[in-house]
Amino acid sequence: MAVSENRPGPHTGPLAGYALLRSLGKRVVRPGGAELTRAMLTALGDLSGLDVVEIAPGTGTTASAIVTQGPRSYTGVERDALTTSALKRVLDGRGTVRVADAAATGLGAGSADVVVGEALLTMQGDTGKDAILAEVHRVLRAGGRCAVHELALRPDDLADEVKQDIRRALARPLKVNARPLTVREWTVLLSRHGLTVERAETAPMALLEPRRVVADEGLPGAARLARNILSDPAARDRVREMRRVFRAHRESLAAVALIARRTASS
Ligand SMILES: C[S@@+](CC[C@H](N)C(=O)[O-])C[C@H]1O[C@@H](n2cnc3c(N)ncnc32)[C@H](O)[C@@H]1O
Repeated sequence: MAVSENRPGPHTGPLAGYALLRSLGKRVVRPGGAELTRAMLTALGDLSGLDVVEIAPGTGTTASAIVTQGPRSYTGVERDALTTSALKRVLDGRGTVRVADAAATGLGAGSADVVVGEALLTMQGDTGKDAILAEVHRVLRAGGRCAVHELALRPDDLADEVKQDIRRALARPLKVNARPLTVREWTVLLSRHGLTVERAETAPMALLEPRRVVADEGLPGAARLARNILSDPAARDRVREMRRVFRAHRESLAAVALIARRTASS
């Protein structure tokens, strides 16, 4: 039987960091938090009347902000079937959900005006990033835009050895192949896939800092999360280790939201 990485249970094993946080009650698991998502959606402008696809929507906090705007259609493409029940609840009939890989959505070519993806590409190696971005390009209409919110390394000329150290340090507690790029590298990667970056906004990477947690989850949500973490020693140790690594590398880590356009000729 396939076992979902999001299943509840002992928090010692291979549960990915984001799945662990979600199982403890954290809803927002992207590096720039709800505030950078808001800035990204604001920069995209009015989505009403547009066909919007979200890849890896998770439990649907961004989906909720999108469907509120009244797009012509909303489609969430999420690999984890367990997560999609929460997403469907959020959508409440205002969109459709596909259980599929973001690299093979099954959606028609040129069927979307906007593709949104948060905290997905960072977790992929080079081949995975390429496969997903090729699919984003295929699904977008000419002139359509993608908006991604990911983990970034800074500055752009950060030494390669430091990048390697940070990637290794992140992979241990996160239990995913975390491969953040510099803003310049993200921009070049998108452009290699025919997606021209028009806007980049950065924010501090403060996912597990108390102030950010309260901003993202609200006071009652943050209190519930803290209770859940404290009542599970294995989970507490892992969350502490994640925060320790984020803090140790805070000078070199950031969140970035990029908006890129599929040019008519690409
Ligand atoms: C870190 S969470 C981010 C969720 C959401 N975008 C957010 O920011 O809150 C990553 C999500 O990506 C989904 N995911 C991971 N790899 C995927 C893939 N190849 N295709 C579709 N979804 C994927 C996971 O199931 C999970 O829900």
